Amino acid sequence: MTWIRACTVQQVPEDEGLRLPTEPPIAVFRVVDEFFATGDSCTHDEFSLAQGYLDGDVVECPLHMAKFCLRTGKVLAPPAFIPLETYPVRRDGDDLFVDVPERPDDL
Ligand code: FES
Repeated sequence: MTWIRACTVQQVPEDEGLRLPTEPPIAVFRVVDEFFATGDSCTHDEFSLAQGYLDGDVVECPLHMAKFCLRTGKVLAPPAFIPLETYPVRRDGDDLFVDVPERPDDL
């Protein structure tokens, strides 16, 4: 695992996620003053969860409404049944760092 500078705090929208150009793609989410990183691809049919709906620490996939816990990656509502990967996030001032499996070339 490798810590990368993923984005700034300001780049993460209040009510949706920010998709990072990592492989696999990772989405960063803000819940009030906390930040979470999960796999961006819904485990049901790979829709981007960065475009999902946030309700507290839960993201809902807009395609078929599966829900996942951002803290644990656990599935909270079908049709997905495979949990999301979660990645550690560290904040340093306005910068967010994510511990990713492999460093992307363009970050
Ligand atoms: S692609 Fe997310 S619920 Fe189907």
